[in-house]
Amino acid sequence: MIAPKRQRGYCKVMALSHDQVHPQPGAAPQGALTVLGLESSCDDTAAAVLRRHGDGRIEVLAEAVVGQNSAHAPFGGVVPEIAARAHAERMDGLAAGVLNEAGLSPFDLDGVAATAGPGLIGGVMAALMTAKGIALGASLPLLAVNHLEGHALSPRLTHALAFPYLLLLVSGGHTQLVIVEGVGRMTRLGSTLDDAAGEAFDKTAKVMGLGFPGGPAVERFAQDAEAPDRFPLPMMLARDASCNFSFAGLKTAARRHWDGLDAPNDQDRADLAASMQAAIARHLAQRAGRAMGIFKSRFEALDSLLPLVAAGGVASNTAVREALQAEAQHHGFELIAPPLKYCTDNAAMIALAGAERLALGLTDGLDAAARPRWPLDQDAAAHDPASGSGRKGPKA
Ligand code: KG4
Ligand code: ZN
Repeated sequence: MIAPKRQRGYCKVMALSHDQVHPQPGAAPQGALTVLGLESSCDDTAAAVLRRHGDGRIEVLAEAVVGQNSAHAPFGGVVPEIAARAHAERMDGLAAGVLNEAGLSPFDLDGVAATAGPGLIGGVMAALMTAKGIALGASLPLLAVNHLEGHALSPRLTHALAFPYLLLLVSGGHTQLVIVEGVGRMTRLGSTLDDAAGEAFDKTAKVMGLGFPGGPAVERFAQDAEAPDRFPLPMMLARDASCNFSFAGLKTAARRHWDGLDAPNDQDRADLAASMQAAIARHLAQRAGRAMGIFKSRFEALDSLLPLVAAGGVASNTAVREALQAEAQHHGFELIAPPLKYCTDNAAMIALAGAERLALGLTDGLDAAARPRWPLDQDAAAHDPASGSGRKGPKA
């Protein structure tokens, strides 16, 4: 049991400010910071309590995630209204549960972090409003976290990873390559022009009747493939020299193969799943290879093995990891993949992003808005806006 803290002056001022507070080196709190993180931007309701020690060491004190797969499975995808209701029903109980498990009360915290976007707006509001309530009630600073920044920092939950590193964020809503140089300092090298990689998995799985979520089902079926090259799929953006991605053509080609089959059976499913998985893995690795070249030329002075971090649900796919591993080795990079529970949506990564922001004095007012769209790299998004319309909004 940790004794409640008495000094609350700093927090009170921050919590009641309605303006974004800019970093003030003198104002940032010193020593260990304990932060509650809340996440509800897609179909996982999650809460975590994390301590960032004064030396930067990270300790997850308690964490919980509740998925909604069975609620969305009949529809073959996430239904925003169902997701929002489920988040609203569970968020406060989950927050109380992790605090209880950590042996803490809200008054023991130094801050409350919540995903404020991008994501399904009804869901995002569940975490953000709960966080605002706790922040107001316990006079704590609020940290309105970009979900993508959470994913970008997630490898630091388990690895003592120094900046800069190259990040491939590859999930159901996002596919992008980003140089991460620090908290709030991210440069996007490329992003998907249409679907996210996870969507390509999910939609192909739906066509073949494999259930939801589709990615793990495709991976399972692919293991039984007898002819993984049986269904030729196109090389996407073959003449494009950028780090962007495209998956819509792959998805359409897979559907055409499927529609062309007479009374398809499980062997057809397995072979098409393997072809699709290999095509997605190849495309991801090829574009990541290009980004590694750019990273290397930008950070010439770094002579150790350079880090390529693969985060997001699709990064848990073994074929994808193997393709990235081979490409990383070829370019002199080390592939770092967070453990599965931190690859997919979780609240520890939101608490971490919140704690890092709190340490820099970057807190938010209680008027922080829930944002359906919120690119990581505002400059890149302004100059090179993403196209397409995924379930999580911006794919860039
Ligand atoms: O990061 P995540 O949990 O949530 C989002 O932010 O989207 O990623 C979920 C996505 C889904 O599209 C799911 O099908 C995909 O990640 N996924 C996988 C695997 N596990 C999850 N895709 C391929 N292979 C997997 N093993
Ligand atoms: Zn995510």
